[in-house]
Amino acid sequence: MGSPSEKGFGQGDPALARWAEETFAPEDAVLAEIRERSAREGLPGIQVGRMDGLHLEVVTRAVCAKKVVEIGTLGGYSGVCLARGMGPDGILHTFELERHHADVARTSFERAGVADLVRIHVGNALERLPSIEREGPFDLVFIDADKGGYPAYLAWAEQHLRVGGLVLADNAFAFGHVHEARPGGEDARAVAPLRAFAERLASGGRFRATMLPTAEGLAMGVKVK
Ligand SMILES: C[S@@+](CC[C@H](N)C(=O)[O-])C[C@H]1O[C@@H](n2cnc3c(N)ncnc32)[C@H](O)[C@@H]1O
Repeated sequence: MGSPSEKGFGQGDPALARWAEETFAPEDAVLAEIRERSAREGLPGIQVGRMDGLHLEVVTRAVCAKKVVEIGTLGGYSGVCLARGMGPDGILHTFELERHHADVARTSFERAGVADLVRIHVGNALERLPSIEREGPFDLVFIDADKGGYPAYLAWAEQHLRVGGLVLADNAFAFGHVHEARPGGEDARAVAPLRAFAERLASGGRFRATMLPTAEGLAMGVKVK
């Protein structure tokens, strides 16, 4: 099933989610345009939820992240949130496999007024990440691409975040199946790598980590050594 395009929030009560969105206003006209244009351009509706985008901006601000890496750009929705959190003296390296997604994202970054802060790298992230390593260590790595790659992306983050830097990863609940002994259905293949990712993050010794119980599960770890 993958991610629903309309993601819930909090305790699963749609009225509570509506209240949160009315109160915190997570999506302005710029982000709404990105969501709509991405759909018109044929991109899958798998960008972060509205409140999750706000979480990304606020967390990026809270840790004063200035050197940020995103794995999985899609149409640039979460990238704009991260760039807003970094402020004008930050730099965001974002990695995307699909050329068309990257083209849509380029327009998003231009319209959001953050294009000067963003470098889009097109190709397989694992092959392209070494090209930025000399600019590290980084302050924040946000993982939101192929689920099979999460363990390798975490290993990269372990190496290239500064101590005190933050790793964030969306979909850490494996679409609700991460805890199941015998997951079935189309999301089953995501479970083993996402479980390996969570176990390494939680008890590998390099991070102090938690899981924010968003609709998708937002894993968050601070690098401690
Ligand atoms: C869930 S979407 C990212 C959503 C985006 N972070 C947002 O919230 O706006 C996942 C993206 O990762 C890309 N992707 C998948 N495998 C990848 C890989 N190996 N390297 C880089 N990008 C990849 C997909 O093409 C897709 O655009």
